[in-house]
Amino acid sequence: MYTKEDLKNTIVSELGEYNLIVVSNREPYIHIMKEDKIVVWRPTGGAVTALDPIMKACGGTWIAHGSGNGDKKVVDRDGKIKVPVENPRYTLKRVWLDKEEEKGYYYGFANETLWPLCHISYTRPVFRESDWQQYKKVNKKFADAVLSEINHSDKKKTIVWLQDFHMALVAKYIKEKNPHVICAYFWHIPWPNPEVFRICPFRKEIIDGILANDMVGFHIRYHADNFIDTVEREVEAKTDRERNSIIKEGHETLVRSFPISVDAQDIENQVTSKETEERANELKKELSLENKIIFLGCDRIDYTKGIPERLIAFDKFLDKYPQYKEKVVFVQIGAVSRILLKSYANINSEINRLVGEINWKHSTSEWAPIVFSKEFIPYKDILAFYRISDVIVISSLHDGMNLVAKEYIASKFDNKGTVILSQFTGSARELQEAIFINPYNINEFVEALKCSIDMSAKEKEKRMKVLRDIVSENNIYKWAATVILELSKFYLY
Ligand code: G6P
Repeated sequence: MYTKEDLKNTIVSELGEYNLIVVSNREPYIHIMKEDKIVVWRPTGGAVTALDPIMKACGGTWIAHGSGNGDKKVVDRDGKIKVPVENPRYTLKRVWLDKEEEKGYYYGFANETLWPLCHISYTRPVFRESDWQQYKKVNKKFADAVLSEINHSDKKKTIVWLQDFHMALVAKYIKEKNPHVICAYFWHIPWPNPEVFRICPFRKEIIDGILANDMVGFHIRYHADNFIDTVEREVEAKTDRERNSIIKEGHETLVRSFPISVDAQDIENQVTSKETEERANELKKELSLENKIIFLGCDRIDYTKGIPERLIAFDKFLDKYPQYKEKVVFVQIGAVSRILLKSYANINSEINRLVGEINWKHSTSEWAPIVFSKEFIPYKDILAFYRISDVIVISSLHDGMNLVAKEYIASKFDNKGTVILSQFTGSARELQEAIFINPYNINEFVEALKCSIDMSAKEKEKRMKVLRDIVSENNIYKWAATVILELSKFYLY
Protein backbone atom coordinates (compact mmCIF):
# COMPACT_ATOMS: atom_id res chain seq x y z
CA MET A 1 0.00 0.00 0.00
CA TYR A 2 1.25 3.48 -0.90
CA THR A 3 1.76 5.56 2.27
CA LYS A 4 2.14 9.21 3.20
CA GLU A 5 5.87 8.58 3.68
CA ASP A 6 6.08 7.23 0.13
CA LEU A 7 4.40 10.39 -1.12
CA LYS A 8 6.79 12.63 0.75
CA ASN A 9 9.78 10.63 -0.55
CA THR A 10 8.46 10.79 -4.11
CA ILE A 11 8.18 14.56 -3.99
CA VAL A 12 11.60 15.05 -2.45
CA SER A 13 13.27 12.69 -4.92
CA GLU A 14 11.55 14.31 -7.89
CA LEU A 15 11.69 17.94 -6.87
CA GLY A 16 14.20 18.29 -4.06
CA GLU A 17 13.20 21.26 -1.95
CA TYR A 18 9.72 22.46 -2.80
CA ASN A 19 7.10 25.00 -1.92
CA LEU A 20 3.61 23.52 -2.30
CA ILE A 21 0.76 26.03 -2.62
CA VAL A 22 -2.77 24.64 -2.81
CA VAL A 23 -5.66 26.97 -3.60
CA SER A 24 -9.34 26.23 -3.11
CA ASN A 25 -12.45 28.16 -2.27
CA ARG A 26 -13.47 26.06 0.73
CA GLU A 27 -11.06 26.03 3.64
CA PRO A 28 -10.18 22.79 5.42
CA TYR A 29 -10.78 24.23 8.91
CA ILE A 30 -13.41 26.85 9.72
CA HIS A 31 -13.40 28.80 12.96
CA ILE A 32 -16.90 29.47 14.24
CA MET A 33 -18.02 31.60 17.17
CA LYS A 34 -20.33 29.59 19.37
CA GLU A 35 -21.58 31.21 22.56
CA ASP A 36 -18.46 33.36 22.96
CA LYS A 37 -16.15 30.44 22.24
CA ILE A 38 -14.31 29.65 19.04
CA VAL A 39 -14.82 26.12 17.75
CA VAL A 40 -13.27 24.45 14.70
CA TRP A 41 -15.45 22.90 12.02
CA ARG A 42 -14.33 20.44 9.38
CA PRO A 43 -16.35 20.96 6.20
CA THR A 44 -17.57 17.81 4.43
CA GLY A 45 -16.97 18.57 0.71
CA GLY A 46 -14.96 16.16 -1.44
CA ALA A 47 -12.08 18.48 -2.30
CA VAL A 48 -11.13 19.35 1.27
CA THR A 49 -11.60 15.77 2.47
CA ALA A 50 -9.10 14.58 -0.12
CA LEU A 51 -6.52 17.34 0.17
CA ASP A 52 -6.15 17.75 3.91
CA PRO A 53 -4.26 14.44 4.37
CA ILE A 54 -1.94 15.38 1.50
CA MET A 55 -1.15 18.74 3.03
CA LYS A 56 -0.62 17.13 6.43
CA ALA A 57 1.87 14.76 4.84
CA CYS A 58 3.70 17.27 2.62
CA GLY A 59 3.40 20.62 4.40
CA GLY A 60 3.06 23.88 2.48
CA THR A 61 0.48 26.63 2.24
CA TRP A 62 -3.23 26.22 1.52
CA ILE A 63 -4.93 29.40 0.37
CA ALA A 64 -8.72 29.49 0.79
CA HIS A 65 -11.64 31.77 1.49
CA GLY A 66 -11.94 32.55 5.20
CA SER A 67 -15.67 32.01 5.57
CA GLY A 68 -16.09 31.40 9.30
CA ASN A 69 -17.27 34.15 11.64
CA GLY A 70 -14.33 33.35 13.97
CA ASP A 71 -11.73 33.07 11.21
CA LYS A 72 -10.33 36.58 11.52
CA LYS A 73 -9.88 36.26 15.27
CA VAL A 74 -7.32 33.44 15.08
CA VAL A 75 -5.01 34.41 12.19
CA ASP A 76 -1.88 36.54 12.09
CA ARG A 77 -1.51 39.81 10.17
CA ASP A 78 -1.10 37.95 6.85
CA GLY A 79 -4.29 35.98 7.41
CA LYS A 80 -2.32 32.84 8.31
CA ILE A 81 -2.75 30.12 10.89
CA LYS A 82 -0.96 26.77 11.31
CA VAL A 83 -3.33 23.81 11.10
CA PRO A 84 -4.57 21.43 12.41
CA VAL A 85 -4.49 23.62 15.50
CA GLU A 86 -3.77 20.71 17.86
CA ASN A 87 -0.90 19.36 15.74
CA PRO A 88 0.20 21.95 13.15
CA ARG A 89 1.42 20.48 9.86
CA TYR A 90 0.83 23.18 7.27
CA THR A 91 -0.19 26.82 6.88
CA LEU A 92 -3.71 27.93 6.06
CA LYS A 93 -3.77 31.39 4.51
CA ARG A 94 -7.21 32.95 4.43
CA VAL A 95 -8.44 35.28 1.72
CA TRP A 96 -11.20 37.66 2.79
CA LEU A 97 -14.20 38.37 0.60
CA ASP A 98 -16.84 41.02 1.13
CA LYS A 99 -20.55 40.22 0.79
CA GLU A 100 -20.79 41.42 -2.81
CA GLU A 101 -17.83 39.28 -3.84
CA GLU A 102 -19.14 36.20 -2.06
CA LYS A 103 -22.59 36.67 -3.58
CA GLY A 104 -21.40 37.11 -7.14
CA TYR A 105 -18.40 34.76 -7.22
CA TYR A 106 -19.46 31.93 -4.89
CA TYR A 107 -23.25 31.85 -4.72
CA GLY A 108 -23.73 33.26 -8.18
CA PHE A 109 -21.12 32.21 -10.72
CA ALA A 110 -19.71 29.11 -9.01
CA ASN A 111 -22.95 27.67 -7.68
CA GLU A 112 -25.70 28.99 -9.93
CA THR A 113 -23.74 28.96 -13.18
CA LEU A 114 -20.88 26.45 -13.25
CA TRP A 115 -22.27 23.84 -10.84
CA PRO A 116 -25.59 23.20 -12.66
CA LEU A 117 -23.93 23.68 -16.06
CA CYS A 118 -21.39 20.94 -15.37
CA HIS A 119 -23.65 18.51 -13.51
CA ILE A 120 -26.54 18.38 -16.02
CA SER A 121 -29.05 17.30 -13.41
CA TYR A 122 -31.76 19.44 -14.95
CA THR A 123 -31.43 22.53 -12.79
CA ARG A 124 -31.09 25.42 -15.19
CA PRO A 125 -27.84 27.40 -14.92
CA VAL A 126 -28.16 31.15 -14.42
CA PHE A 127 -25.88 33.50 -16.37
CA ARG A 128 -25.44 36.95 -14.82
CA GLU A 129 -22.84 39.38 -16.11
CA SER A 130 -22.46 40.84 -12.59
CA ASP A 131 -21.63 37.40 -11.12
CA TRP A 132 -19.04 36.85 -13.84
CA GLN A 133 -17.38 40.19 -13.02
CA GLN A 134 -17.18 39.24 -9.33
CA TYR A 135 -15.81 35.81 -10.24
CA LYS A 136 -13.02 37.44 -12.22
CA LYS A 137 -12.30 39.93 -9.43
CA VAL A 138 -12.10 37.20 -6.79
CA ASN A 139 -9.94 34.98 -9.03
CA LYS A 140 -7.51 37.92 -9.27
CA LYS A 141 -7.50 38.16 -5.49
CA PHE A 142 -6.57 34.49 -5.20
CA ALA A 143 -3.87 34.91 -7.85
CA ASP A 144 -2.37 37.82 -5.90
CA ALA A 145 -2.44 35.74 -2.72
CA VAL A 146 -0.49 33.00 -4.54
CA LEU A 147 2.05 35.45 -5.99
CA SER A 148 2.73 36.89 -2.55
CA GLU A 149 3.72 33.40 -1.37
CA ILE A 150 6.39 32.93 -4.02
CA ASN A 151 9.79 33.99 -2.87
CA HIS A 152 12.04 34.41 -5.88
CA SER A 153 15.25 34.45 -3.93
CA ASP A 154 14.92 30.93 -2.52
CA LYS A 155 15.79 27.99 -4.68
CA LYS A 156 12.73 25.90 -3.85
CA LYS A 157 10.57 24.68 -6.71
CA THR A 158 7.09 26.09 -6.39
CA ILE A 159 4.08 23.93 -7.21
CA VAL A 160 0.82 25.85 -7.49
CA TRP A 161 -2.08 23.45 -7.36
CA LEU A 162 -5.46 25.03 -8.01
CA GLN A 163 -8.65 23.22 -7.03
CA ASP A 164 -12.07 23.09 -8.55
CA PHE A 165 -14.55 25.17 -10.47
CA HIS A 166 -14.13 28.29 -8.34
CA MET A 167 -10.61 28.97 -9.70
CA ALA A 168 -10.90 28.79 -13.50
CA LEU A 169 -9.02 32.04 -14.17
CA VAL A 170 -6.43 32.04 -11.40
CA ALA A 171 -3.59 30.51 -13.49
CA LYS A 172 -4.12 33.12 -16.19
CA TYR A 173 -3.78 35.98 -13.69
CA ILE A 174 -0.72 34.35 -12.10
CA LYS A 175 1.00 33.85 -15.46
CA GLU A 176 0.25 37.41 -16.57
CA LYS A 177 2.46 38.56 -13.71
CA ASN A 178 4.89 35.66 -13.58
CA PRO A 179 4.87 33.32 -16.62
CA HIS A 180 7.44 30.98 -15.04
CA VAL A 181 5.23 29.70 -12.24
CA ILE A 182 4.10 26.13 -13.00
CA CYS A 183 0.36 25.76 -12.38
CA ALA A 184 -1.72 22.60 -12.18
CA TYR A 185 -5.49 22.58 -11.92
CA PHE A 186 -7.79 19.85 -10.70
CA TRP A 187 -11.45 20.10 -11.70
CA HIS A 188 -13.35 18.10 -9.06
CA ILE A 189 -16.74 18.06 -10.76
CA PRO A 190 -17.84 16.65 -14.15
CA TRP A 191 -16.98 18.47 -17.36
CA PRO A 192 -19.99 18.36 -19.69
CA ASN A 193 -19.99 17.69 -23.40
CA PRO A 194 -19.60 20.65 -25.82
CA GLU A 195 -23.34 20.71 -26.60
CA VAL A 196 -24.03 21.57 -22.98
CA PHE A 197 -21.11 23.91 -22.42
CA ARG A 198 -21.79 26.00 -25.52
CA ILE A 199 -24.73 27.84 -23.92
CA CYS A 200 -22.40 29.59 -21.45
CA PRO A 201 -21.88 33.19 -22.60
CA PHE A 202 -18.46 33.32 -20.90
CA ARG A 203 -17.21 29.97 -22.23
CA LYS A 204 -14.27 31.24 -24.27
CA GLU A 205 -12.76 33.21 -21.40
CA ILE A 206 -13.27 30.27 -19.03
CA ILE A 207 -11.47 27.95 -21.42
CA ASP A 208 -8.66 30.46 -21.99
CA GLY A 209 -8.27 30.77 -18.21
CA ILE A 210 -8.04 27.01 -17.75
CA LEU A 211 -5.58 26.63 -20.61
CA ALA A 212 -3.16 28.95 -18.82
CA ASN A 213 -2.43 25.96 -16.57
CA ASP A 214 0.38 23.58 -17.48
CA MET A 215 -1.72 20.61 -16.54
CA VAL A 216 -5.45 20.09 -16.01
CA GLY A 217 -6.80 17.02 -14.22
CA PHE A 218 -10.23 15.42 -14.11
CA HIS A 219 -11.42 12.37 -12.19
CA ILE A 220 -12.20 10.26 -15.22
CA ARG A 221 -11.11 10.05 -18.85
CA TYR A 222 -14.64 10.80 -20.03
CA HIS A 223 -14.57 14.29 -18.45
CA ALA A 224 -11.06 14.93 -19.78
CA ASP A 225 -12.24 13.96 -23.28
CA ASN A 226 -15.29 16.21 -22.92
CA PHE A 227 -12.92 19.05 -22.04
CA ILE A 228 -10.75 18.46 -25.10
CA ASP A 229 -13.88 18.23 -27.30
CA THR A 230 -15.09 21.54 -25.84
CA VAL A 231 -11.75 23.24 -26.51
CA GLU A 232 -11.80 21.98 -30.10
CA ARG A 233 -15.27 23.39 -30.58
CA GLU A 234 -14.78 26.75 -28.89
CA VAL A 235 -11.26 28.14 -29.32
CA GLU A 236 -8.37 28.22 -31.77
CA ALA A 237 -6.00 25.63 -30.40
CA LYS A 238 -4.16 22.55 -31.53
CA THR A 239 -5.19 19.38 -29.74
CA ASP A 240 -2.97 16.33 -29.65
CA ARG A 241 -5.02 13.22 -28.85
CA GLU A 242 -1.90 11.05 -28.63
CA ARG A 243 -0.31 13.16 -25.91
CA ASN A 244 -3.66 14.30 -24.55
CA SER A 245 -2.51 17.86 -24.70
CA ILE A 246 -3.66 21.20 -26.04
CA ILE A 247 -1.41 23.87 -27.49
CA LYS A 248 -2.75 27.38 -27.59
CA GLU A 249 -0.62 30.36 -28.60
CA GLY A 250 2.51 28.30 -28.08
CA HIS A 251 1.60 27.19 -24.56
CA GLU A 252 0.95 23.51 -23.90
CA THR A 253 -1.56 22.19 -21.35
CA LEU A 254 -1.55 18.49 -20.53
CA VAL A 255 -5.02 17.04 -19.94
CA ARG A 256 -5.05 14.05 -17.61
CA SER A 257 -7.38 11.90 -15.56
CA PHE A 258 -6.56 11.07 -11.95
CA PRO A 259 -9.33 9.37 -9.95
CA ILE A 260 -9.21 10.93 -6.49
CA SER A 261 -9.46 8.86 -3.33
CA VAL A 262 -9.29 8.86 0.48
CA ASP A 263 -6.82 8.04 3.22
CA ALA A 264 -8.11 4.48 3.57
CA GLN A 265 -5.76 3.44 6.37
CA ASP A 266 -6.54 6.48 8.50
CA ILE A 267 -10.29 5.93 8.11
CA GLU A 268 -9.93 2.30 9.13
CA ASN A 269 -7.82 3.28 12.15
CA GLN A 270 -10.38 5.83 13.28
CA VAL A 271 -13.36 3.56 12.72
CA THR A 272 -11.87 0.72 14.72
CA SER A 273 -11.00 2.97 17.67
CA LYS A 274 -12.64 2.46 21.05
CA GLU A 275 -14.10 5.96 20.80
CA THR A 276 -15.92 5.23 17.51
CA GLU A 277 -17.13 1.89 18.82
CA GLU A 278 -18.64 3.58 21.88
CA ARG A 279 -20.18 6.35 19.80
CA ALA A 280 -21.63 3.76 17.41
CA ASN A 281 -23.31 1.94 20.31
CA GLU A 282 -24.66 5.21 21.69
CA LEU A 283 -26.14 6.18 18.33
CA LYS A 284 -27.79 2.79 17.97
CA LYS A 285 -29.49 3.27 21.32
CA GLU A 286 -30.37 6.95 20.86
CA LEU A 287 -31.95 6.38 17.46
CA SER A 288 -33.54 2.97 18.19
CA LEU A 289 -31.43 1.25 15.56
CA GLU A 290 -30.63 -1.88 17.52
CA ASN A 291 -31.41 -5.07 15.61
CA LYS A 292 -32.41 -3.16 12.52
CA ILE A 293 -31.05 -3.38 8.99
CA ILE A 294 -29.61 0.09 8.51
CA PHE A 295 -29.48 1.85 5.14
CA LEU A 296 -27.35 4.99 5.21
CA GLY A 297 -27.39 8.09 3.02
CA CYS A 298 -24.65 10.64 3.73
CA ASP A 299 -24.46 13.73 1.54
CA ARG A 300 -24.35 17.47 1.48
CA ILE A 301 -27.96 18.40 0.81
CA ASP A 302 -27.65 19.11 -2.90
CA TYR A 303 -29.98 18.55 -5.86
CA THR A 304 -27.26 16.57 -7.66
CA LYS A 305 -27.22 13.86 -4.97
CA GLY A 306 -30.55 12.23 -5.88
CA ILE A 307 -31.89 12.32 -2.30
CA PRO A 308 -35.60 12.59 -3.24
CA GLU A 309 -35.15 9.67 -5.69
CA ARG A 310 -33.63 7.64 -2.84
CA LEU A 311 -36.50 8.41 -0.46
CA ILE A 312 -39.11 7.64 -3.09
CA ALA A 313 -37.40 4.32 -3.85
CA PHE A 314 -37.38 3.48 -0.14
CA ASP A 315 -41.08 4.32 0.11
CA LYS A 316 -41.85 2.05 -2.86
CA PHE A 317 -39.65 -0.66 -1.36
CA LEU A 318 -41.77 -0.63 1.82
CA ASP A 319 -44.95 -0.72 -0.31
CA LYS A 320 -43.74 -3.65 -2.36
CA TYR A 321 -42.03 -5.60 0.41
CA PRO A 322 -44.03 -4.83 3.58
CA GLN A 323 -42.38 -7.77 5.35
CA TYR A 324 -39.44 -5.43 5.97
CA LYS A 325 -41.49 -2.91 7.92
CA GLU A 326 -40.09 -2.46 11.44
CA LYS A 327 -36.99 -4.39 10.34
CA VAL A 328 -35.23 -1.67 8.32
CA VAL A 329 -34.39 1.98 8.95
CA PHE A 330 -33.09 4.55 6.48
CA VAL A 331 -30.71 6.98 8.17
CA GLN A 332 -30.14 10.06 6.04
CA ILE A 333 -27.48 12.43 7.32
CA GLY A 334 -25.95 15.43 5.67
CA ALA A 335 -25.26 19.05 6.21
CA VAL A 336 -27.43 21.75 4.75
CA SER A 337 -25.49 23.50 2.01
CA ARG A 338 -25.54 26.74 -0.06
CA ILE A 339 -28.88 27.44 1.59
CA LEU A 340 -29.13 31.06 0.44
CA LEU A 341 -29.85 29.80 -3.07
CA LYS A 342 -33.43 29.11 -4.10
CA SER A 343 -32.57 25.79 -5.75
CA TYR A 344 -31.05 24.57 -2.45
CA ALA A 345 -33.90 25.91 -0.32
CA ASN A 346 -36.27 24.04 -2.66
CA ILE A 347 -34.44 20.72 -2.42
CA ASN A 348 -34.38 21.07 1.37
CA SER A 349 -38.12 21.58 1.57
CA GLU A 350 -38.73 18.74 -0.84
CA ILE A 351 -36.66 16.36 1.28
CA ASN A 352 -38.39 17.51 4.49
CA ARG A 353 -41.76 17.00 2.89
CA LEU A 354 -40.88 13.52 1.61
CA VAL A 355 -39.46 12.40 4.96
CA GLY A 356 -42.59 13.66 6.71
CA GLU A 357 -44.92 11.97 4.23
CA ILE A 358 -43.11 8.62 4.15
CA ASN A 359 -42.76 8.45 7.93
CA TRP A 360 -46.42 9.33 8.35
CA LYS A 361 -47.47 6.70 5.82
CA HIS A 362 -45.48 3.73 7.14
CA SER A 363 -44.63 4.38 10.77
CA THR A 364 -46.06 2.36 13.66
CA SER A 365 -46.13 3.12 17.37
CA GLU A 366 -42.73 1.42 17.70
CA TRP A 367 -40.97 2.44 14.53
CA ALA A 368 -40.38 5.20 11.98
CA PRO A 369 -38.74 4.16 8.71
CA ILE A 370 -36.58 7.26 8.15
CA VAL A 371 -34.24 9.06 10.52
CA PHE A 372 -33.24 12.36 8.95
CA SER A 373 -30.62 14.66 10.40
CA LYS A 374 -29.58 17.80 8.61
CA GLU A 375 -27.57 19.17 11.50
CA PHE A 376 -23.84 19.56 11.08
CA ILE A 377 -22.47 16.14 12.09
CA PRO A 378 -18.91 15.84 13.39
CA TYR A 379 -16.72 13.54 11.33
CA LYS A 380 -16.34 11.05 14.18
CA ASP A 381 -20.12 10.60 14.19
CA ILE A 382 -20.13 10.05 10.43
CA LEU A 383 -17.57 7.29 10.98
CA ALA A 384 -19.79 5.80 13.69
CA PHE A 385 -22.70 5.78 11.23
CA TYR A 386 -20.51 4.06 8.64
CA ARG A 387 -19.64 1.48 11.24
CA ILE A 388 -23.21 0.59 12.20
CA SER A 389 -24.86 0.71 8.79
CA ASP A 390 -25.39 -2.35 6.59
CA VAL A 391 -25.80 -0.60 3.25
CA ILE A 392 -24.65 2.79 1.94
CA VAL A 393 -26.97 4.25 -0.67
CA ILE A 394 -25.38 6.68 -3.15
CA SER A 395 -27.83 7.84 -5.77
CA SER A 396 -26.22 10.93 -7.32
CA LEU A 397 -27.79 12.11 -10.55
CA HIS A 398 -24.28 13.12 -11.58
CA ASP A 399 -21.09 13.28 -9.50
CA GLY A 400 -17.46 13.96 -10.41
CA MET A 401 -16.24 11.14 -8.13
CA ASN A 402 -18.19 10.69 -4.84
CA LEU A 403 -15.83 10.05 -1.99
CA VAL A 404 -18.54 8.88 0.41
CA ALA A 405 -18.50 5.55 -1.44
CA LYS A 406 -14.75 5.21 -0.91
CA GLU A 407 -14.87 6.38 2.72
CA TYR A 408 -17.58 3.84 3.48
CA ILE A 409 -15.59 1.04 1.91
CA ALA A 410 -12.45 2.07 3.79
CA SER A 411 -14.43 1.98 7.04
CA LYS A 412 -15.69 -1.61 6.59
CA PHE A 413 -12.78 -3.28 8.38
CA ASP A 414 -14.76 -6.53 8.83
CA ASN A 415 -15.71 -6.78 5.12
CA LYS A 416 -19.36 -6.46 6.09
CA GLY A 417 -21.45 -3.87 4.31
CA THR A 418 -22.85 -3.28 0.85
CA VAL A 419 -22.60 -0.36 -1.55
CA ILE A 420 -25.50 0.73 -3.74
CA LEU A 421 -23.96 3.14 -6.23
CA SER A 422 -25.30 5.38 -8.96
CA GLN A 423 -23.85 4.58 -12.34
CA PHE A 424 -23.51 8.35 -12.84
CA THR A 425 -20.71 8.81 -10.29
CA GLY A 426 -17.04 8.92 -11.25
CA SER A 427 -16.37 6.24 -8.62
CA ALA A 428 -18.62 3.76 -10.46
CA ARG A 429 -15.75 3.28 -12.95
CA GLU A 430 -13.53 1.79 -10.27
CA LEU A 431 -15.98 0.26 -7.80
CA GLN A 432 -17.31 -2.49 -10.02
CA GLU A 433 -18.39 -4.75 -7.16
CA ALA A 434 -21.06 -2.31 -5.99
CA ILE A 435 -24.74 -2.81 -6.78
CA PHE A 436 -25.34 -0.29 -9.54
CA ILE A 437 -28.45 1.79 -10.01
CA ASN A 438 -29.78 4.35 -12.40
CA PRO A 439 -31.35 6.68 -9.80
CA TYR A 440 -33.93 7.84 -12.34
CA ASN A 441 -35.20 4.24 -12.62
CA ILE A 442 -37.20 3.84 -9.42
CA ASN A 443 -38.21 0.20 -10.02
CA GLU A 444 -34.60 -0.80 -10.50
CA PHE A 445 -33.70 1.18 -7.38
CA VAL A 446 -36.34 -0.69 -5.32
CA GLU A 447 -34.90 -4.03 -6.46
CA ALA A 448 -31.38 -2.87 -5.62
CA LEU A 449 -32.50 -2.13 -2.04
CA LYS A 450 -34.04 -5.60 -1.86
CA CYS A 451 -30.97 -7.22 -3.39
CA SER A 452 -28.68 -5.53 -0.85
CA ILE A 453 -30.60 -7.35 1.90
CA ASP A 454 -31.09 -10.68 0.13
CA MET A 455 -27.58 -11.18 -1.19
CA SER A 456 -25.80 -13.95 0.70
CA ALA A 457 -23.39 -12.94 3.43
CA LYS A 458 -20.64 -14.76 1.54
CA GLU A 459 -21.24 -12.78 -1.67
CA LYS A 460 -21.41 -9.49 0.24
CA GLU A 461 -18.14 -10.23 1.94
CA LYS A 462 -16.48 -11.27 -1.30
CA ARG A 463 -17.52 -8.03 -2.99
CA MET A 464 -16.51 -5.84 -0.07
CA LYS A 465 -13.10 -7.46 0.04
CA VAL A 466 -12.47 -6.60 -3.62
CA LEU A 467 -13.72 -3.05 -3.10
CA ARG A 468 -11.48 -2.62 -0.08
CA ASP A 469 -8.45 -3.79 -2.00
CA ILE A 470 -9.17 -1.22 -4.72
CA VAL A 471 -9.63 1.66 -2.27
CA SER A 472 -6.62 0.84 -0.15
CA GLU A 473 -4.39 0.32 -3.20
CA ASN A 474 -5.53 3.48 -5.03
CA ASN A 475 -5.50 5.73 -2.01
CA ILE A 476 -5.15 9.49 -1.76
CA TYR A 477 -1.34 9.40 -1.41
CA LYS A 478 -0.96 7.43 -4.59
CA TRP A 479 -3.30 9.89 -6.31
CA ALA A 480 -1.22 12.88 -5.20
CA ALA A 481 2.03 11.12 -6.14
CA THR A 482 0.71 10.38 -9.64
CA VAL A 483 -0.18 14.05 -10.09
CA ILE A 484 3.19 15.22 -8.76
CA LEU A 485 5.15 12.75 -10.92
CA GLU A 486 3.36 14.05 -13.98
CA LEU A 487 4.04 17.61 -12.87
CA SER A 488 7.69 16.99 -12.04
CA LYS A 489 8.46 16.79 -15.78
CA PHE A 490 7.96 20.55 -15.97
CA TYR A 491 10.73 21.19 -13.47
CA LEU A 492 13.39 19.46 -15.54
CA TYR A 493 13.76 22.52 -17.72
C1 G6P B 1 -18.05 19.72 -4.04
C2 G6P B 1 -17.08 20.63 -4.71
C3 G6P B 1 -16.15 21.27 -3.70
C4 G6P B 1 -16.94 21.94 -2.62
C5 G6P B 1 -17.89 20.93 -1.99
C6 G6P B 1 -18.76 21.53 -0.90
O1 G6P B 1 -17.41 18.60 -3.52
O2 G6P B 1 -16.34 19.94 -5.69
O3 G6P B 1 -15.33 22.23 -4.30
O4 G6P B 1 -16.12 22.50 -1.65
O5 G6P B 1 -18.72 20.40 -3.00
O6 G6P B 1 -19.45 22.64 -1.35
P1 G6P B 1 -19.29 24.07 -0.71
O7 G6P B 1 -19.98 24.98 -1.65
O8 G6P B 1 -19.96 23.96 0.62
O9 G6P B 1 -17.83 24.34 -0.57
